[in-house]
Amino acid sequence: MNSYTVVTGASSGIGRAVAIAFANRQKNLILIARREDRLLSLKEDILTQHPQLNIIIKCCDLTDQKKCLSLYQELSAYSLETWINNAGFGQYANIATQSLESIIQMLQLNVEALTLFSSLFVRDYHDVPGTQLINVSSSGGYTIVPTAVTYCATKFYVSAFTEGLSHQLIKDGAALRAKVLAPNATETEFANVANDVTDFNYKTGFNRYHTSEDMATFLLALV
Ligand SMILES: NC(=O)c1ccc[n+]([C@@H]2O[C@H](COP(=O)([O-])OP(=O)(O)OC[C@H]3O[C@@H](n4cnc5c(N)ncnc54)[C@H](OP(=O)(O)O)[C@@H]3O)[C@@H](O)[C@H]2O)c1
Repeated sequence: MNSYTVVTGASSGIGRAVAIAFANRQKNLILIARREDRLLSLKEDILTQHPQLNIIIKCCDLTDQKKCLSLYQELSAYSLETWINNAGFGQYANIATQSLESIIQMLQLNVEALTLFSSLFVRDYHDVPGTQLINVSSSGGYTIVPTAVTYCATKFYVSAFTEGLSHQLIKDGAALRAKVLAPNATETEFANVANDVTDFNYKTGFNRYHTSEDMATFLLALV
């Protein structure tokens, strides 16, 4: 049976680069995000290079818990090898003025969806050799950035949950492994979303930053 790598947030940035990196390793892919046009164009790009691969696209808003659960149910039709919880967003804001709507969405995506998918994947793949769960945290998941407290707090959760899970799996003699990727500044759409702009300039905004392709290489090293 063909096995698949799942990448959430595959329509741009790190997730897109990770999908391409796994395709270059001849992995079949299940690509998840909201923007269907982006996922279709990624699928076309990958199939041009690797026509033998199976690429499945699932458009889903992962802030919706019910949609996450039914999406996971749909994926029971596939044998999975690696699940990468990469979808996430940040916001530079003071808690006093940050909109409750964006706080809730951040918790739903960065924390809730990641926890649901991780937990369901652990139940189903605990004893399956060669399987891996990779959760994307942030350097802000280890050091609070004072201008993005809510975001960093969600990423502290991702780091703590995944590290705790990793220890538990090893202690229990599970075949599944859980790992954290904690990116530093990386040139993606992240800063546009986090600053609510359309043209964030990484060259002037950061002294040093990575490309999405750098981050995909780090993730492959982690695998
Ligand atoms: N870039 C950085 O400097 C940096 C640093 C540390 C950590 N990270 C983390 O890296 C991960 C990837 O971010 P990125 O930098 O690649 O940013 P990005 O270019 O903005 O990509 C974010 C991805 O998440 C998806 N997404 C956002 N909201 C979603 C929703 N409600 N439902 C489903 N998918 C959703 C987006 O797809 P759609 O909009 O099509 O849904 C997109 O594919 C995030 O977890 C982020 O926190 C990034």
